[in-house]
Amino acid sequence: MKTITSNNQVIWYDETLISDSVEQAFEPEYWHAQGKVIGSAQGRGTTWFVQTEHLPAALRHYRRGGLFGKLVKDHYWFTQWHNTRSCEEFQLLQHLVKAGVNVPKPIAARAVKRTVCYQADILTQKIEGADDLVAILQKQRLDAKVYRLIGQQIRQLHDANVNHTDLNIHNILLDQSNKAWIIDFDKCHLEPSRGESNLSVWEQSNLDRLLRSFCKEVTKRQIKWSQENDWPALLEGYRQSATC
Ligand SMILES: Nc1ncnc2c1ncn2[C@@H]1O[C@H](COP(=O)(O)OP(=O)(O)O)[C@@H](O)[C@H]1O
Ligand SMILES: [Mg+2]
Repeated sequence: MKTITSNNQVIWYDETLISDSVEQAFEPEYWHAQGKVIGSAQGRGTTWFVQTEHLPAALRHYRRGGLFGKLVKDHYWFTQWHNTRSCEEFQLLQHLVKAGVNVPKPIAARAVKRTVCYQADILTQKIEGADDLVAILQKQRLDAKVYRLIGQQIRQLHDANVNHTDLNIHNILLDQSNKAWIIDFDKCHLEPSRGESNLSVWEQSNLDRLLRSFCKEVTKRQIKWSQENDWPALLEGYRQSATC
């Protein structure tokens, strides 16, 4: 990881993945001006998909959710550069890529200091031809095999000691070959490594969060999902060792 530091901002980047101007790469206008915006997705804000010199990428500006987010949209209290959300997510993604979990490669991250607060952005590999589980399940049911693959990825994530505090079905993508990808590691963190075979409280709570998300979208968006059939398949994949 390389770093560029100036008086009010720090950029962390992987020099093997970016040769575009790193300082400009966080500005959607930079990509628009070159005709290199290849799409967008709507989450809390707009995620821009852009064509970098090396690979298609997803550019996200950090925004708050919830009620507080309506008041303070994208400013976070500054303590230290390495504690900024963008730096933490960048490092967590690097750790997960090394551990062999299907997550986007982190390309570059930035934090900009604004008096006592900061704003942040991240550029990651775009997962090509992928849709999130909500969009897919609105159209079709999925085989038990696919749910087992999703479960296996979550197990690998946990074996890498990463607590995904927002594990919901908008943050799980499936690509054309039904490979499952986990995204959106804002506010997620490493846990101390566990020796015992029982599930830790945080692992169980990630799974509970995911189950609530499936149930919620059955009512809200009529996704084609059955707790009776599909959830056990996911758990089966989760319980198998990742190498099985
Ligand atoms: N690396 C990526 N590859 C493909 N799609 C992505 C990627 N990152 C984000 N997206 C899309 O953008 C949406 C919002 O991004 P996300 O990282 O979940 O931010 P948030 O939920 O905070 O808005 C996702 O649900 C997904 O559809
Ligand atoms: Mg998300």
